[in-house]
Amino acid sequence: MTLYCVVLAAGLGTRMNSEIPKVLHSICGIPMLQAVLNTAKKLRPRRIVVVIGKRGDLVRNSIACKDAMFVVQRQAKGTGDALRRAQHVLADKKAVVLVLNGDTPLLSDITMKQFLSLHYRAKNAVSVLSFKATNNHAYGRIVRDGSGRLLSIVEEKDANPEQKKIEEVNSGVYAMNRDAFALLDMIKINRAKGEYYVTDIVAIARGESLPIAAYCIGSEEELMGVNTRGELARASRLMKKRIIEEWIDKGVIFLDAESVFVHPHVTIGKGTTIYPNVYLDGHTTIGGHSVIYPNVRIQDSHIGKRVVIKDSCVIENSLVRDRASVGPFARIRPGSEVGTEARIGNFVELKKAVIGKRSKASHLSYIGDALIGKDVNVGAGTITCNYDGARKHKTEIRDNVFIGSDTQLVAPVRIGRGAYVGAGSTITQDVPPLSLALSRARQVNVEGWALNRRLKVKSSKHKKKVVRGPSGRMVK
Ligand code: UD1
Ligand code: CA
Repeated sequence: MTLYCVVLAAGLGTRMNSEIPKVLHSICGIPMLQAVLNTAKKLRPRRIVVVIGKRGDLVRNSIACKDAMFVVQRQAKGTGDALRRAQHVLADKKAVVLVLNGDTPLLSDITMKQFLSLHYRAKNAVSVLSFKATNNHAYGRIVRDGSGRLLSIVEEKDANPEQKKIEEVNSGVYAMNRDAFALLDMIKINRAKGEYYVTDIVAIARGESLPIAAYCIGSEEELMGVNTRGELARASRLMKKRIIEEWIDKGVIFLDAESVFVHPHVTIGKGTTIYPNVYLDGHTTIGGHSVIYPNVRIQDSHIGKRVVIKDSCVIENSLVRDRASVGPFARIRPGSEVGTEARIGNFVELKKAVIGKRSKASHLSYIGDALIGKDVNVGAGTITCNYDGARKHKTEIRDNVFIGSDTQLVAPVRIGRGAYVGAGSTITQDVPPLSLALSRARQVNVEGWALNRRLKVKSSKHKKKVVRGPSGRMVK
């Protein structure tokens, strides 16, 4: 059976009180619509169709989903009208169409699969996914007859006092047979709202004696619709918690899960320990059995297995290979690579720097636009002078080099394999392999200099006791 998925995302989102389309509001760092599409993708539909409206180009450009195609609803004339805009691209007339609202970001693929199998099994024309709402809410009410058969969905605004008391509500998730789309043309405009309601399809299908059903299988949290900023904040909290719980189930250890943020696109290996106040953002991956100590932010980076990231580090768009160690207080800027078993210590900044296997920069260094080989020791306080005020230049340090402390490497410069650079040097020329480079001034010891100075100071202090005032008289 072919499955299509249609996501309605063309609404005005007036209740959000915002410049940007509602479905682009971020939940845990991704647009709400992206969260819905990520779930839709897991169902492997033949096609995902997104109905976009006002500022549709912005929506299209903010979404990463190569399987999605977009259709436009020029005027937000309601959910029923939005769904009609999608039908011309759903070619297979025997298909089943899963319809989702773009503002229900917590939907899970597990519930969707369960819902679809109920729809298939009952051979319904239209199925509705419902849930029990306990709080004060404005969801459409599921109206059933005395024997529990589905009759219709009544929107809160149109509900009578009796209907308002109904706890079972519409989630905005529907499964429809493709040929039931013909019923969309029979939806009449809702006079009060000036919109075509997709929910009316239920009563229409029933009028046509087609099989319909509502399945009350999801939870209120999972199926919540986001219409206001308050609801968005609540959904974000729920999603954050859910992401962490999933990683706990997969064997990740959190010492204080509440204080940790994990972006939905992050992956973490089994046996990794995450300390409090850690922020894992974007497309970050962390291998197994690594340790991330407190106050670390990692953005769009790959961290290998058995890596240790010590306290208070920032790592962006970089790669840290297996068994390496970084920090405390290190900054790894974009385009850097820390090699296998390499060590980056406290107050070290890397920028577009590749650090080879087992190499070390343990203290107080800036290494930018640099290529460092294997088994290199970068002494404390080493600086690559990569910028001449106009352009950036490269520093190359070959395998087994020893750079003494407080060295400045004025780029472009190359240090040959196995060479030594004496501490305190300013290196402006390439250093040949296996040689020693020294550029500091030779030390001079002036014997007795300090003693003489001390004696001079003593005698001048003695003289100072007699001072003349402005009148020329002596003062004490
Ligand atoms: C809708 C349902 C309601 C259900 C609730 C679940 C209708 C009439 N009501 O109400 O029964 O309980 O969802 O969360 O469907 N959209 C368009 N074009 C439009 C209008 C809306 O694409 O012209 C999109 C929106 O972007 C949104 C979705 O459809 O993603 C739902 O629209 P919204 O206005 O949020 O409907 P609700 O009032 O929440
Ligand atoms: Ca809504």
